[in-house]
Amino acid sequence: MSSQDIPEENLPAEQDTSHGAVGVADEKHPFADPGLPPHEYRVQDIDERAAKRSERTVSLLFTVSMLATVGFIAAFVAIPVDKSVFIFPFGHISALNFALGLTLGIALFCIGAGAIHWARTLMSDHEMVQERHPVEASPELRATIHEEFKQGAKESQLGRRKLLRNTMLGALTLVPLTGVVLLRDLGPLPGTKLRHTLWSKGKLLVNMNTDEPLRPSDIAVGSLTFAKPEGLDEHAEDFNNEIAKAALMIVRLQPGDIKDKRELEWSHEGIVAYSKICTHVGCPISLYEQQTHHVLCPCHQSTFDLSDGARVIFGPAGHALPQLRIGVNDEGYLEALSDFEEPVGPAFWERG
Ligand code: FES
Repeated sequence: MSSQDIPEENLPAEQDTSHGAVGVADEKHPFADPGLPPHEYRVQDIDERAAKRSERTVSLLFTVSMLATVGFIAAFVAIPVDKSVFIFPFGHISALNFALGLTLGIALFCIGAGAIHWARTLMSDHEMVQERHPVEASPELRATIHEEFKQGAKESQLGRRKLLRNTMLGALTLVPLTGVVLLRDLGPLPGTKLRHTLWSKGKLLVNMNTDEPLRPSDIAVGSLTFAKPEGLDEHAEDFNNEIAKAALMIVRLQPGDIKDKRELEWSHEGIVAYSKICTHVGCPISLYEQQTHHVLCPCHQSTFDLSDGARVIFGPAGHALPQLRIGVNDEGYLEALSDFEEPVGPAFWERG
C-alpha cells in the first residue's frame, strides 16, 4: 500500500519537501534544482496496526535468531564429533558440522533480516537534504594567507639578499641531478653485444662434453651433439654470458632430407649447426626426434623442424632457430664460416 491508497484524512499534515529547491538557475545557483519529490508515506506511518504487525515480524525474526543460537550451543555440546547424517543432495556429512552451520546461519540471517525489515517499515524514512559547504576559502582567509606569505618573504629577506636567493635556487635546481646520475648504475647499455656471439670465420666447433674439436666423422646420423666455440674456457668470468649466446646443437641429416636450400648450402655433408637457444624465451633446447628431425624446447614445447630451416612447427616461439654456416678446415675439423647472421634467442633483441 502506498500513500495514494490511503484516505486523505489519515495522512499526516504535508511537510515542506521543497527544501533547497531552485526552480530557475541564476548567477548564484547556475544549475536549477528540482528539489525532492513528494514524500511517500508507508502504511506503517499512518496505520498503527500495520506498524504493530511489522514490530511483531521483526521480534519474531530476533526470537528465531536467539533460538538458533541456543540450538548452536546445544548441538556443540550434544552431537558427537564422529556422527554422520545423510543429507540430500550432499550425501553423508558430519552431523556436528551440519548442525553448527545450519543454526549459526539461521541465527545470523534472522538478525540481518530483522534489522532490514525494521529499517524499511518502522524507522523514519524522511528524505534529508544536506547543503554542501562552499569549498573555496573566504575572501578574509585568502587575504590573511596572502599577508602571511608576504610577511614570511619579508622576514626571510629573500628579496633583499639576492646572493642568498640565487644560491638557494641554484642548489634546489641542481640537487635533482643526483637522481639522474644514479641512473648510470643501470648501464652500461648492451650496445650491439647481444647481436654477436663468439663465432667467427675459422672458429673450430668444440664438443661441449669432451672439449675436443669435432670432425665430421664424430657426428653420427640421428645423434644430437652440443658444441661451443674453441677458446671458450669454462672457468672464464664471462663464460655463462658467452655460452648463453654461442651454444650450438649439431645434427647430421641425409642431405636429401634437407628441404631448405639455404640450410643445405650452410651445412657440410648433411651436418647442420643451429643455435641451441630457443627463440621463445631462451631456454636451451635438448630434445631431438631423429625420425622427424624435430627438436623440442622443454620449457613451453616449441618444436622446430631441423630439416626445413628449423622453422617453428608448434608452440609459442616466434621464429626459426638461427643457423650457423659451417665447413671443414684443412685439417679436417668442423669450423664456423661466420657468426650467426641474425641474433640468437628471443625475438626481443631483434627489435632493439
Ligand atoms: S623457451 Fe622454448 S618454448 Fe618457451
